[in-house]
Amino acid sequence: MKTAEYSPGLEGIIAGTTTISHVNPDLCSLMYRGYDIRELVKHSSFEEVAYLLLKGKLPTQGEYDEFCALLKQERDLPDVLVDAFKTFPKNSVPMDMLRTGTALLALHDPDKDDNSHDANVRKAIRSIAKFPALIAYSYRINRGQEIVKPDNGLGHGENFLYMLQGKKPDAYMAHVFDCSLICYADHGFNASTFSSRVTVSTLSDIYSGLVAAIGTLKGPLHGGANEEAMKMLQEVGTPENAEAWVIDALATKKKIMGFGHREYKNGDPRAFILTEMGAEMSEKLGDTQWYKTASIVESVMHREKNIVPNVDFPTSYIYYLMGLPIEIYTPIFALARVSGWTAHMIEQLDNNRLIRPKALYEGPDHLDFVVRAQR
Ligand SMILES: CC(C)(COP(=O)(O)OP(=O)(O)OC[C@H]1O[C@@H](n2cnc3c(N)ncnc32)[C@H](O)[C@@H]1OP(=O)(O)O)[C@@H](O)C(=O)NCCC(=O)NCCS
Repeated sequence: MKTAEYSPGLEGIIAGTTTISHVNPDLCSLMYRGYDIRELVKHSSFEEVAYLLLKGKLPTQGEYDEFCALLKQERDLPDVLVDAFKTFPKNSVPMDMLRTGTALLALHDPDKDDNSHDANVRKAIRSIAKFPALIAYSYRINRGQEIVKPDNGLGHGENFLYMLQGKKPDAYMAHVFDCSLICYADHGFNASTFSSRVTVSTLSDIYSGLVAAIGTLKGPLHGGANEEAMKMLQEVGTPENAEAWVIDALATKKKIMGFGHREYKNGDPRAFILTEMGAEMSEKLGDTQWYKTASIVESVMHREKNIVPNVDFPTSYIYYLMGLPIEIYTPIFALARVSGWTAHMIEQLDNNRLIRPKALYEGPDHLDFVVRAQR
């Protein structure tokens, strides 16, 4: 059997191969199926990126139209799910509702008992299509509002904003939101993707992998960071407070959310793209407070710790400027990443080997057993 060195948190360990996305910290680049995300953000759409991740190539116009039509056709949820959302405790955490909603959705999928490649692609398309409604419906019902049914005249991202907020976003907002979904769509063997791959490597089903991935994404060291970053910016309050706030936080060993990355130590390409968009959006809306505060946090972090922002920092104030509720930011990450998760699970299953690492045992061995009465 091969032996490997122990690396805490599996840092630097190659745990498998993939052709889906390439994280290259040296070049500060991220490629999906060989295409730089900068190019994809410029020229593509979330729907096209989802197709690329799932199918491994860019679609022709005909394939693109067919894929978009399929996504639209699958947007709504079975009524039983809507009824189930009504039973959730008031003010439930949206990530918890998404996790439970996904588990419920699995029961109603016509391909639930079919683990073939083709059935998995169908399940992937259905889950990509339905995540927006899972998030928007459960959120609105849980907050005592009527649900807003999908509008098939709208693209994937803008339809989500419509179903969540009850009004159609303007074209600029819809564009920025779509770019953020492209940036969130995939990212190598990140923790949630890895947990989804581990789950299906036992030959379990894609929905079980999605539930595992959602649970993994929820944590603040992963997807939960975009919500925590915005709460932090609110606590900082103003650009004038930012420097002292960061210095004080670092002195008390606080983690600054939305900063640092296991892979990128010199910069996250997604953060560069979205910071630029955040600046532009702030100017356009005439609300620069958050961007200015964020810029100072950024420069102090760079000066004091040489740590730069990750994708979750600019998305936090971009989503805030869009008027989105903070507790919905991590579900939005999931809404995009479901495309990557499903692509990875299909890749895993197409060439499966059980993922089962070793542990370095550090406890005692061969202890003498003393019966309970004599302890
Ligand atoms: C993402 C993250 C978990 C990567 O962690 P990692 O590769 O395990 O790196 P570590 O947490 O061991 O950090 C290495 C050093 O940098 C510091 N550091 C890393 N990120 C930091 C942050 N956001 N704020 C303050 N210090 C940070 C650590 O305290 C540690 O310092 P030390 O060596 O003096 O103890 C980490 O940077 C983090 O917790 N960031 C905040 C959460 C976040 O934004 N997550 C989203 C990631 S996309």
